[in-house]
Amino acid sequence: MYSPAANRYDSSAFYRRCGRSGLRLPLISLGLWHNFGDKDSFEAARAIICRSFDLGITHFDLANNYGPPDGAAEVTFSRILHDDLFKWRDELIISTKAGYYMWPGPYGEWGSRKYLLSSLDQSLKRMRLDYVDIFYSHRPDPDTPLEETMGALAHAVRSGKALYVGISNYKPADTARAAKILRELGTPCLIHQPRYSMLDRWVEPELLATLENEGIGSIVFSPLAKGLLTDRYFKGIPADSRAGHDKRFLRPADITDEVLAKTRKLNDLAQSRGQTLAQLALAWVLRHKVVTSALIGASKVSQVDDCVGATKNLNFTGEELAQIEKILA
Ligand SMILES: NC(=O)c1ccc[n+]([C@@H]2O[C@H](COP(=O)([O-])OP(=O)(O)OC[C@H]3O[C@@H](n4cnc5c(N)ncnc54)[C@H](OP(=O)(O)O)[C@@H]3O)[C@@H](O)[C@H]2O)c1
Repeated sequence: MYSPAANRYDSSAFYRRCGRSGLRLPLISLGLWHNFGDKDSFEAARAIICRSFDLGITHFDLANNYGPPDGAAEVTFSRILHDDLFKWRDELIISTKAGYYMWPGPYGEWGSRKYLLSSLDQSLKRMRLDYVDIFYSHRPDPDTPLEETMGALAHAVRSGKALYVGISNYKPADTARAAKILRELGTPCLIHQPRYSMLDRWVEPELLATLENEGIGSIVFSPLAKGLLTDRYFKGIPADSRAGHDKRFLRPADITDEVLAKTRKLNDLAQSRGQTLAQLALAWVLRHKVVTSALIGASKVSQVDDCVGATKNLNFTGEELAQIEKILA
């Protein structure tokens, strides 16, 4: 029988307010994109979730298509939730999304009301839940009016199947338009989920300022660049790593000499701060107050411990930031 650590909420600094909402999220959240599929070890998945909760991680991020196969991560999560964590449901923020391909025919992907609301029902069924805390439009749909997609999100809230709504992968102008529509519908946009790391800085020129202006929080995904911003690949490609065993989104060819030269230098800087490279990379994205949470993935319990350790030192000197810019240039 799992029993959570009694000291899991000892650090109030571990929670940051999400935009201008009443909701606070942990600085580190756990995503189930990888390592929670049918072929992954259920015991490892269970240990990662339970250890995360022990460390104060209250937010678990899913999507309809996480697996493989599609939907499998929601089923794995449901098993862990109902076996171990359901007693603490009111302490959990569970999110899911719809946007990518899920089923054949014209209603199985993108941003129609038909797809989003059917997909949400399917996710709730897989997770055996009455509601999720956050429901996202996973990607913008160039062919569906934004009013329809946002209307479907607002309907999810009004029908009691989601408490809050968010958008993911939306560009700055569409974000501002989506925020306006949602405000008018009485269901403010809680959060944006963009990709952001030292190796992918597309949010910096405009999106972060847009979010700040709109009072929307953000949870940044792949802050470790899928493992590149860690020591995982310093001695080759381990068989149990993402690039070693699941090459769908991180290929061995992505581990280039150029990337390794940068990450080795960043690792030296991390050590001089008394941090691991993963901790440095997480502290760096969290230096923006508009970044509510860094959304990590993990294949091992020890990685979750290491990542949460990042929050012990989120401060950077001007000189350290300049050194990072020089390394990344
Ligand atoms: N909205 C979207 O479109 C979208 C897209 C992608 C992801 N996401 C969300 O973001 C979440 C995180 O994405 P991600 O998994 O790519 O994030 P990430 O944190 O950049 O990468 C996670 C991987 O880094 C390695 N790692 C983690 N901590 C480590 C540590 N302390 N030391 C060494 N290695 C460490 C592990 O690799 P190994 O597995 O090799 O051990 C782990 O699987 C997803 O689960 C999902 O919820 C959203």
